[in-house]
Amino acid sequence: MQRPIITLLTLGLLLASALAAAAEPIVIKFSHVVAENTPKGQMANRFKDLVAERLGDRATVEVYPNSQLFGDDKVLEAMLLGDVQLAAPALSKFSRYTDVLALYDLPFLFEDLDAVDRFQQSEQGRTMLESMRKRGLLGLGYLHNGLKQLSSSKPLRVPADASGLKFRIMSSEVLEAQFEALDAAPLKKPFSEVFTLLQTKAIDGQENTWSNIYSKKFYEVQPYITESNHGLLDYMVVTSTEFWMDLPDEVRETLAVALEEAIAHGNQVARDKAVEDKERITESGRTQIIALTPDERLQWVETMKPVWQQFEDEIGADLIEAAYAANGSD
Ligand code: LMR
Repeated sequence: MQRPIITLLTLGLLLASALAAAAEPIVIKFSHVVAENTPKGQMANRFKDLVAERLGDRATVEVYPNSQLFGDDKVLEAMLLGDVQLAAPALSKFSRYTDVLALYDLPFLFEDLDAVDRFQQSEQGRTMLESMRKRGLLGLGYLHNGLKQLSSSKPLRVPADASGLKFRIMSSEVLEAQFEALDAAPLKKPFSEVFTLLQTKAIDGQENTWSNIYSKKFYEVQPYITESNHGLLDYMVVTSTEFWMDLPDEVRETLAVALEEAIAHGNQVARDKAVEDKERITESGRTQIIALTPDERLQWVETMKPVWQQFEDEIGADLIEAAYAANGSD
């Protein structure tokens, strides 16, 4: 007669612990460094809303914008320690974990976001999302911001104008080589410090998208912006492989679908902001936007493009060729 009692007790305990587990939502902390009114900020917020709608109490997304939780220099380590579950650093910021993503920093590689889409959707582009898997990080998708412009305390029309100037860069060797090719001085600094560095004139300039230049007010402290479109600022939405694979299957699948939709929204915001934020900056009258003549632009291409060769072995000549071939097939 003792057996049924033990079994009932065991069942009761199991049920109690299952209920407790069910009551605990899966918390997904999403840390990023930009403002909310940006492609990444809008994508993160949309993802949070979609997850709330579709998973209710099973999972909640907490979004931490503006480097509130982690800067991009710390966020990947924090992810491997389980302190944050999602982030979307610029592709320039993964060099400690993989060589191949340096591809995206090569100057004048992509003509526009359509070319970027074509390459990223190709098999080679998709394989790159898995390039850090062995290091514990999994790319869940790419997200756009846009093409980069050069802002400065001096008008920059030709590469020689940048000679001797100090530029803030993201932590990327390709970007370092790009500014060295201009005979300028690149300084790797976190995004959260850029405004103050520009305001106090500790640096002379920086490169970024219209969205970041507008949302972080860099245009208020930089009298000139050269519309160079010389490089790409794109992101990888990344998670810890361990966290992702440990999720219940149906939760993981729902999150993946929600993420895909949120990224599509963020990509549309990126395309809109490249136009709208440029207009807002122009209308502010705080800075002069310099449009390059074809001849001036060619000088920037000729000065910066030799950087490709420096990184050909590291990135792979085939990959560079495949990415470049994605241009101009509209
Ligand atoms: C930067 O550091 O300039 C950018 O990566 C910021 C961002 O996330 O757009």
